[in-house]
Amino acid sequence: MSNTLSILIVGHRGLLGQECMNRLRPLGRISGVDIDTCDITRPEQIEAVIDSSRPDWVINGAAYTDVDGCESNRELAWAVNAGGAGNLARSCRSRGIGFVQLSTDFVFDGRKGEPYLEDDVTAPLSVYGASKLGGERAVREAGGRHIIVRTAWLFGKGGKNFPDTILKAAQSTDPLRVVEDQWGSPTYAPDLADAIGELIRKDARGIVHLTNRGSCSWFEYAVFILRAAGIKKEVIPVSTEELPRPARRPRFSVLSLARYEGIVGKKMRPWQEAVKEYLLNWQNSGNIIT
Ligand SMILES: NC(=O)c1ccc[n+]([C@@H]2O[C@H](COP(=O)([O-])OP(=O)(O)OC[C@H]3O[C@@H](n4cnc5c(N)ncnc54)[C@H](OP(=O)(O)O)[C@@H]3O)[C@@H](O)[C@H]2O)c1
Repeated sequence: MSNTLSILIVGHRGLLGQECMNRLRPLGRISGVDIDTCDITRPEQIEAVIDSSRPDWVINGAAYTDVDGCESNRELAWAVNAGGAGNLARSCRSRGIGFVQLSTDFVFDGRKGEPYLEDDVTAPLSVYGASKLGGERAVREAGGRHIIVRTAWLFGKGGKNFPDTILKAAQSTDPLRVVEDQWGSPTYAPDLADAIGELIRKDARGIVHLTNRGSCSWFEYAVFILRAAGIKKEVIPVSTEELPRPARRPRFSVLSLARYEGIVGKKMRPWQEAVKEYLLNWQNSGNIIT
């Protein structure tokens, strides 16, 4: 890897942001800011931070990511996820800086029934999805050198994530009820950070779908996590209707990795391998199945 780039991570305390700070070091000089010094809804703070760190690339890991919370905080969702992305993209554009925006599988309605391509029609079902799509549009309209990375079902150390939730819930005497009719691709934050690094190295452009390989339902994901951790616990499959949430989610939001693999010439590893590594590293279970 070349060792010459300067990269600024915005939202460096978030799940992905932390891993970008760790994993992108081989690319060069990595710095990070979060909402306390760089609120992305405040253009003047963005300008000050960018002018002092003078990066070659900015990666935007900052977002309002509470999918259900977005339903009742529509203005904040749009201000951060759309407005903030646009503010960053314009600041980068006017200085000739490359910009990586993170987006989501929730820009789709899940009706396609096979993996989504980058140019498939978007139709978000939630305020979160719509505001993230607004972010994509704002980045495109800013007109600079940019990559829009759509990812999904992120998990990793130091953030709210599904494996931890399942392992914690398994300690309760109550049966575990997990949705069986929503399909997607779990994505390990360190793998995503590495893959973003690959896209930067290739000086990629446009929208790129990026998750770990393979797909599952939330129910299958939960069963795999428990087996991999060596925990015996009954998991009851339930329908989305049985576990109502404020925000609607797509039923099938698997993303095609063909474009990423074509650009980079490497495959993402299967989500099962990544989950096993996560459990091994961060749960110290010692019960990983092989
Ligand atoms: N997590 C997923 O499953 C998932 C799936 C698909 C796509 N994505 C996308 O991937 C990206 C990274 O997600 P993540 O899960 O790593 O997010 P995260 O853990 O929620 O981190 C987001 C970070 O952004 C900060 N932030 C919030 N509002 C801000 C503002 N106005 N200005 C500056 N910073 C602000 C947060 O600070 P506070 O904590 O103080 O609010 C937090 O440090 C996001 O664009 C998200 O939409 C995530």
